[in-house]
Formats: sequence, C-alpha cells, structure tokens
Amino acid sequence: MSEIGVFEFRGERYEFPVEIGSENEIAIDIKKLRGSTGGIITLDSGFKNTGSCKSAITFLDGEKGILRYRGYGLEDLAANSSFLEVAYLVIFGELPKKMELERFENTIKSHTMLNEEMKDILDGFPKNAHPMGILSSLTGALTAFNPHSVDVNDEEQMYQAICKTMAKIPVIASWAHSKNLGKPMNYAHNDFDYIENILQMLFTKRNERYKINPIITNALDQLLILHTDHEQNCSTSTVRIVGSSHAGLFASISAGVSALWGPLHGGANQAVIEMLENIIADGGDVEKYIAKAKDKKDSFRLMGFGHRVYKNFDPRARIIKSAADELLQDLDMDDPVLAVAKHLEEVALNDAYFVERKLYPNVDFYSGIIYRALGIPTEMFTVMFAIGRLPGWIAQWREMRLNNEPIGRPRQLYIGENQREFKPVEKR
Ligand code: SDX
Repeated sequence: MSEIGVFEFRGERYEFPVEIGSENEIAIDIKKLRGSTGGIITLDSGFKNTGSCKSAITFLDGEKGILRYRGYGLEDLAANSSFLEVAYLVIFGELPKKMELERFENTIKSHTMLNEEMKDILDGFPKNAHPMGILSSLTGALTAFNPHSVDVNDEEQMYQAICKTMAKIPVIASWAHSKNLGKPMNYAHNDFDYIENILQMLFTKRNERYKINPIITNALDQLLILHTDHEQNCSTSTVRIVGSSHAGLFASISAGVSALWGPLHGGANQAVIEMLENIIADGGDVEKYIAKAKDKKDSFRLMGFGHRVYKNFDPRARIIKSAADELLQDLDMDDPVLAVAKHLEEVALNDAYFVERKLYPNVDFYSGIIYRALGIPTEMFTVMFAIGRLPGWIAQWREMRLNNEPIGRPRQLYIGENQREFKPVEKR
C-alpha cells in the first residue's frame, strides 16, 4: 500500500511514494530523490531514521516493547518452541512440520565435521586469542573448503548451505573455547541434539562422558531463541551489505561476527559482567557507577543499558531476568553479580537521567548471569550470542539475495577541502 509524500525546497516541489508496512509503519521511498532533485541526498549518521530494506522476518516495536519472529510473539516461542524450530521459522518463514524439523536436524547433523586442516589455521592463533576473533577468522576460512558460491535460487543448494552453516559454526565456537583452555578439540556427536551438542563440545573432557542436564539444556535453548534475530541491527546490516556484493554466506557471516564483537553491540554481554565484577571489586558502590554513567566527562557507560530501538523494556531482558532467577534456584546456585545487577537496575530506573533518555536494561544486561551459571567463561559470551543470532543472519542474507537487493553503496556529504593546486615539497 502506498501514498504520496511532498518535499519542497528552494521553490521546487517534489513528490515521493510513501510505503505503509503490514504493521502500519510508514516509510518515504527516496530511491528517486537524487535523480529528481539534481543531487540532493539525505544524511542520517547511524541510520537512526533510515530503513535499509523491506523485510518479512522480524517485527519490533521499540515504544511498546514488542518483538515477533514471522508474526509469532517472542514470549510464545520462548515458552513453547525449540531453538532449531525457531531457526527454521526465521529462515524459511513457517514453523516446521514434524518431518521438516526432523530433516532439518538430521541434515545439520550430517554437516558437523570440519576439515582437519582447519586445525592448522587454529594453531596459528596465540592461546589467549579472543574467541570472537577466532570465530570470525575460521568462519571466513570455511570458504576455502567450500569454494563454490551457492546459487540462492537453487532450493536444495541453499538448504544444504544453510544446514552446513548451522552445523559448523557451533563446532568452530567450541574449538575456539578449547584453544583458549589448551584442551583437545571436541566434535559434535549424532547421539546428541543441537543444544546438547553445543554444551558437550564446550565441556566434554577426554576422561569422562558429558552428562546431559535438562535444566541446563533448556536454559540455553531458550536463551538462544531470544537472540535469534533482531531486524536490522549492526551485525545483521553488516551481513546484508557484505552479501549484497554477492560475497558468499560464510564470508558475510564472518563479517557479521566481527560487527557483533563490538562492546556497543553483542560484545556488551561480556562488558556487563566485567562492569558488575568491577563494581563488586570496588566495594559494591552502585551509586558511584550510576554517577559515572551520567557524567558527560566520564567515558563510563552502563553496559547492558539503553537501546537504539527499545525506548521501553527490551522484552528479551524481561524473560532473561526471570530465567536467570529460575536457573540459579534450580541449580541451587547463588551469584553475587545478579544481586548487584538488580540493584543497579533499580537505582537506574528511578533516576531522571535514565528515565528521561528511556534507558532500560537490554538483552545483554542479564544474559551473562545465565552463561555463568552454565559454566561458560566471560570471553565466550559474545560467541554464544553469535550462535543464537546465526539463524537471523542466514535468514536476512537469504531474503536480501532472493529479493535481488542492489549492492549497498551509501552516498556522503563531502565537507573536505575544495580544489587546490599541488605544491612540490620544497614549496610546502
Ligand atoms: C545489542 O540494535 C540492536 O537490535 C542490537 C541488539 C540485537 O539484538 O542485535 O539488541 C543487541 O547490541 C544491545 C545493545 C548492547 N549495548 C550496550 O549495552 C552498550 C551500552 N549502551 C549504549 O552504548 C547505547 O545505549 C546503545 C549503543 C545501545 C544505543 O546507542 P544510541 O541509540 O546511539 O543512543 P545514544 O548513544 O545516542 O544515547 C542517547 C543518550 C546519550 O545521552 P545525551 O547525549 O542525550 O545526553 O543516552 C545516553 C547517551 O550518552 N546513553 C547512555 C547509555 N546509553 C545511552 N548513558 C549511559 N549509559 C548508557 N548505557
């Protein structure tokens, strides 16, 4: 559905189509702006007001705190579905029938082996290399072993490439973890399901079989569902723009991993725990850190707080906060960091600075509490985020390619020097 928008400038009147989305969002289609105005462009650093595409995958309403994958509410999916079911939904658009889910799971299982030469690449990293750097590099390296670019219009080729990606990334993630620990690499085993395999690859020791704990597998399954997709966030936009040059799926996801690593994005889940541990080490003075976060002269930010889109509670943070409480109770564990996190949230949400700026806890504020309870080290938190976001990256890449989106190439407003004559060095 579309209407018309009008732009008037220097006595000229320009009309542009206005598109209305299925949730009544409104977008001015400016694809003809530059051509019809003799060169005028828009300027929007950080793309805070700019839509990069039309998408049918995820809908979120930041004011109302709504998040839906393919029309299904996040709360429903988190309570009733599995991560692989949600991955299938996000990628293919429908919840899978029993046979489809079985085929998806079995095809993924058929692709979990990595070429042993990947270990030679891994050996090149120092032991203390950050696992996100390893994950990004080895994901890109998968192209070396899968050199033929996938025909996105060939359904079976695309299906196999999708399952290959879903299969291999968690294995690489576990190898990055083993590398950091100086331990032997583990492999997926077809006796385990997708979530059980992630855990057994992270924690299996050569001298004992990994024991499945349903409380732990269910907690991880739900946490990964909550990370599956989030429309055009920084890393997804990166996957889309890299893929728009027709770079392959592995290369595009490798770029997305690097974008997610930043502490303003997925890297925040690691930064939150480090911040909370610092507050505890510094005597637990929460008010001192709230004051630092408000002080414009202080570069300190309350990690895990604020969001580009959510100006209300991040619905994922709500679910994760109660899941963290429940998991610690079920495992009969106590985590002093959780108490500090709750105290920090309570003080911040009653402080004008945060209330006026609509800064609420986001997905990263409590997720680290769950990862810690699962025995996952802090440096692996963003790797776990990447595993959760993988289906979303795949879905968005596939949608961009199937929609034949043009190569992403933004314009700019030049503010540099005007033309000037070259001066030989002796005259400078
Ligand atoms: C994720 O986009 C997504 O969907 C991402 C994600 C996903 O699922 O993919 O949801 C995952 O990345 C969540 C966000 C994780 N990052 C953090 O928790 C890092 C801390 N948060 C901030 O750095 C910040 O809130 C951002 C980066 C998340 C959002 O930044 P914006 O939208 O660019 O907002 P801004 O920096 O312009 O802030 C607006 C105001 C500023 O103050 P004023 O200049 O108006 O006085 O709010 C302040 C900021 O200084 N502010 C904060 C703050 N976040 C914003 N002040 C203190 N602490 C903070 N955390």
